[in-house]
Amino acid sequence: MTKISVSVDGATFVDDVEPRTLLVHYLREQVGKVGTVVGCDTSNCGACTVELDGRSVKSCTVLAVQADGGEITTIEGLQAEDGTLHPMQQAFHENHALQCGYCTPGMIMACRDLLKNNPSPSEQEIREGIEGNLCRCTGYQNIVRAVQDVAAQGVSV
Ligand code: FES
Ligand code: FES
Repeated sequence: MTKISVSVDGATFVDDVEPRTLLVHYLREQVGKVGTVVGCDTSNCGACTVELDGRSVKSCTVLAVQADGGEITTIEGLQAEDGTLHPMQQAFHENHALQCGYCTPGMIMACRDLLKNNPSPSEQEIREGIEGNLCRCTGYQNIVRAVQDVAAQGVSV
């Protein structure tokens, strides 16, 4: 076991982990952040996407020990303290950008990261920006609309 200390959604967690524990499993099983989803475990689907030290990562591709000392934001850390949804969460809701919702946490994290790096992307740039995240339900069109909606608002993400 190795002791790690991480910040997750603003709270500090100090835990013993196996050296082989993946960050996604640590987040779900030890921290309790089950909003971060395991869709494939092989780095294909993006359902496990979180922010680690300001960068979007697929948390099934990172060992928990590699996150030691890091600052992690999950889908559960996006909403405001009063429960107000993050603009990207609200836009997904308003644009019907989710159906089963399995991909949604990772998709929202990836879309947010996309706008952080490119506040007014073209449709092509949006499609390319989320190509690492698979959704089998929506056909992506409404996801693209949600990103365009937030970009048009010009709000901080
Ligand atoms: Fe990580 Fe699918 S669970 S990419
Ligand atoms: Fe079902 Fe995306 S909403 S996989």
